[in-house]
Amino acid sequence: MKSILIQAAWFCILLASFVTGSHAAIFDVKKFGAKADGKSDDSKAFLGAWGAACKAAGANTITADGKYMAGPIKFQGPCKGAITIEAHKMILTALPDPYAFKGHAWVTFSSVHGLTINGGTFDGNGATAWKLPDCGKKGNICRLPANLQFNVVTGLKIIGLTNKNSKQFHMTMGGCKDVTIQNYTVNTPGDAPNTDGVHIGESSKVSILGASIKTGDDCVSLGDGVQDVHVEKVTCGPGHGLAIGSLGKYPNEKPVLGVTVKNCTLTGTTNGARIKTWPGSPVGSASNMHFEDIIMNNVTNPILIDQQYCPWNQCKAGVPSKVKLSGIGFKNIKGTSSSKVAMTIHCSPAVPCQGVLMNDINLVYKGKDGPAVSSCTNVKPSITGKVVPTACSTHK
Ligand SMILES: *[C@@H]1O[C@H](CO)[C@@H](O)[C@H](O)[C@H]1NC(C)=O
Ligand SMILES: *[C@@H]1O[C@H](CO)[C@@H](O)[C@H](O)[C@H]1NC(C)=O
Ligand SMILES: *[C@@H]1O[C@H](CO)[C@@H](O)[C@H](O)[C@H]1NC(C)=O
Repeated sequence: MKSILIQAAWFCILLASFVTGSHAAIFDVKKFGAKADGKSDDSKAFLGAWGAACKAAGANTITADGKYMAGPIKFQGPCKGAITIEAHKMILTALPDPYAFKGHAWVTFSSVHGLTINGGTFDGNGATAWKLPDCGKKGNICRLPANLQFNVVTGLKIIGLTNKNSKQFHMTMGGCKDVTIQNYTVNTPGDAPNTDGVHIGESSKVSILGASIKTGDDCVSLGDGVQDVHVEKVTCGPGHGLAIGSLGKYPNEKPVLGVTVKNCTLTGTTNGARIKTWPGSPVGSASNMHFEDIIMNNVTNPILIDQQYCPWNQCKAGVPSKVKLSGIGFKNIKGTSSSKVAMTIHCSPAVPCQGVLMNDINLVYKGKDGPAVSSCTNVKPSITGKVVPTACSTHK
C-alpha cells in the first residue's frame, strides 16, 4: 500500500514536470565548443552554454570541469528558470591583457533571478595590470575589470568560490537582493592595488557567512544603499580591513541601513572595523551599524571612523562631510594594534556622530611609545563594560 502511494506520488511529480516543462537539464560548456586546454579563449563556449540554459524552461545546470581561459563574458538574464553553475572542478583564467576588457568586469551576471554558483576558481591574471603606471593607484585613472560583477541579481547563492589575482575588485554587486555568499576565498598579493575582496552597493538582504580574504585593498567594502547586510566569520589579511564606505563621494547616494559585522579575525591589516566618508560631501546618512566579536592581530587602525577620508587629495579638505552617522556599536573587540592610536573616531563637525556605543574593548599596543590611546572628534560615545584604551580620552 505504502509503495503504491510512493509510486503514485512519483508519477504525479513526473507528470507535473512534463506539463510545466520543469525537469532540469544539464548544459556542459565542452558541448558548446570549449577546448578546455587552459590557453584558448573559451568565452564563446561559456556564452553558448549560458544562452541555451537560460532559454530552456525549468531550473537548469551549467557544468564546467577543467581549465579554461576567457576574455570578457556577459551572462545576461532574465532566464526562464533558475540557473545553477557547477564549477567545483573549474579553473577559469582571464586573458592577461588589461585592454582586452572594455567593460567594468571580466565575468558579469545581469538581471538573473535565481542563480547558484557552486565552487569554481576565477583567476584574474592581474599581475600585468597591477604594474601599469597610474592604473588603480591615483583613483581610477584607467578602468580595469573586476573579476566578477553581479548587476540586479536576486536569489543569489555563491558557495565555495575562490577568487584571485583580479585586475581590480574581486567581486562587485549592485542592485542585488537575497544574496548568500558562503565559504568564499580570495588569495591575492597584499600589494595588488584596488583589489577589494568583495564590494557591495545598493543591495539588500546580503549575508557573507565564512570567508578567507587575502588581498591588497579592503577585504569587504560596503557602499551606499546597502540594507540588511550581515558579514560573519571572515578572516582578513593582508588587506585594508572591513569597511563601510567610502560614502559621500557622489551626489544622490542612498542611505546605508543595517549592517552587522560579527565573529571576524583581522591579521596584519592596515584597518580593522572602519567607516569612511568624504569631506565636502552631499547630504547622506548611514545608520544601525554594528561590529561585534572581532579579533585584531597587529592591525594598524583597529577601530576607525574617518569622516575626512580623502585619498590622493581628491577632495576639498576643510569642508566637512554631511554624511550623518548614527547608531554605531563596537562590541567585544580584542587584540593588538600596530600603532599607538588604536581607536580613532573622527566624526564630522557638520553632523556629529550620534548613538555610538563602545562595549568591552581591549586593544593593546606594545610599541615603546605605548600604551594605546584613542583620538576622537565630534562624538560622545556611551561606554559600557571595560574599554581599553579609554574611549575618547584625548578629546578635541
Ligand atoms: C570550501 O570551499 C572549498 C573550495 O570549493 C572546498 O574545498 C571546501 O571543502 C569548502 N569547505 C567547506 C567547509 O564547505
Ligand atoms: C568565530 O568564533 C569562534 C568561537 O569563538 C572561533 O572559534 C572562530 O575562530 C571565530 N571565527 C573567526 C573568523 O573569527
Ligand atoms: C605588525 O605590523 C607591522 C606593520 O604594520 C609590521 O612591521 C610588523 O612586523 C608586524 N608585527 C608582527 C609581530 O607581525
